[in-house]
Amino acid sequence: MNQVKRNILLNPGPATTTDTVKNAMVVADICPRELEFGELTLSVRNDLIRVAHGEKNHTCVMLTSSGTGGVEACLTSVVPHTKKVLLLINGAYGERMQKICDAYRVEHIDYNQEWGLPLDLNEVESLLKKNQSEVSHIAFIHHETTVGILNPLSEISALAGKYNVETIVDAMSSFAGMKIDVEKDNIHYLVSSSNKCIQAMAGISFIITNKQSLLKTKEVAPRNFYFNLLDNHLYLEKNKQFRFTPPVQTVYALRQALNEYFEEGAENRFARYAAMYEIMRKKVLELGLTFLVEEKHHAKLLTAIHDPKSPAYSFDEMHDYLYERGFTIYPGKVGNINTFRLSNIGAIYPKDIEDFLVVFETYLRLKKII
Ligand SMILES: Cc1ncc(COP(=O)(O)O)c(C=O)c1O
Repeated sequence: MNQVKRNILLNPGPATTTDTVKNAMVVADICPRELEFGELTLSVRNDLIRVAHGEKNHTCVMLTSSGTGGVEACLTSVVPHTKKVLLLINGAYGERMQKICDAYRVEHIDYNQEWGLPLDLNEVESLLKKNQSEVSHIAFIHHETTVGILNPLSEISALAGKYNVETIVDAMSSFAGMKIDVEKDNIHYLVSSSNKCIQAMAGISFIITNKQSLLKTKEVAPRNFYFNLLDNHLYLEKNKQFRFTPPVQTVYALRQALNEYFEEGAENRFARYAAMYEIMRKKVLELGLTFLVEEKHHAKLLTAIHDPKSPAYSFDEMHDYLYERGFTIYPGKVGNINTFRLSNIGAIYPKDIEDFLVVFETYLRLKKII
């Protein structure tokens, strides 16, 4: 097995991967139309469904794209032309849904909340009530990675159920990082990608969708081609193959990453991530830094921290210092508030976070930032 230099990625994905996942990509060349590759594709789809507890009523559509492609596929394939989607927006990824809808002329009603603040469920409910005859879907981000806020998935899904509206959930940075049960939470479309908490490589987006809901979309005249969700699904079902060229080696990596997810155990993965968050949270407070989002709304997968006030602080300089030592951090701007972000997902462990925090503190003290 090739030993590869290990970088600790604290950016919000692509996340750090294990050497075994990296090495899973070194395989004999294969035509993805071969039966063997079809079996692999099917096993990956089935296991993604298992991760989301959707074995009973859900299927999984895989696309060759980054995560945005999966969101685009949902929004542009499922909303009837005579209906609207209610978008809940409290960060950049919420806004991206708005841009997608505008580009494809999918009618939408927007609930805009200030970035970093929790959604007001009364407001959500009154919008659902007021627009009941027009709204067919509600779309929102589970973990809004822009700021690290967790939007209340079960509560929003319950409201959607009450008003007979289907749910589209962007779970890009929460899928496989915390418990999501598409059956229990009545999620019709759950989107994620291969390079975040599932700990594989970039290149695949996937949508775990309720089969009945998806089949109903045959009534929706296509607005898209490559990203048509139903057409991709029908092709995958009939041929056990991606409709278009798959990222072959990424599929092997995802297979390995799924094996490692089940070997670790879902609960253990969630607990590992939560433990890393807790170590980070304590140290950030000890250093006198402050969070953008109120602690009770933290997703515990990524934390946005206000830039230190000191004139000696420069994000770029801090980034470079840490990067040279094997740690990658990420900037973040929310309106005119500057933050930097530390995520705690991927094949990293509490000891990595402890090591990072030592280097981080050393830097802040060296530069007299704190
Ligand atoms: C919540 C959320 N949605 C969508 C995306 C977009 O994913 P991609 O950059 O893979 O297209 C991201 C990426 O970080 C994300 O965190």
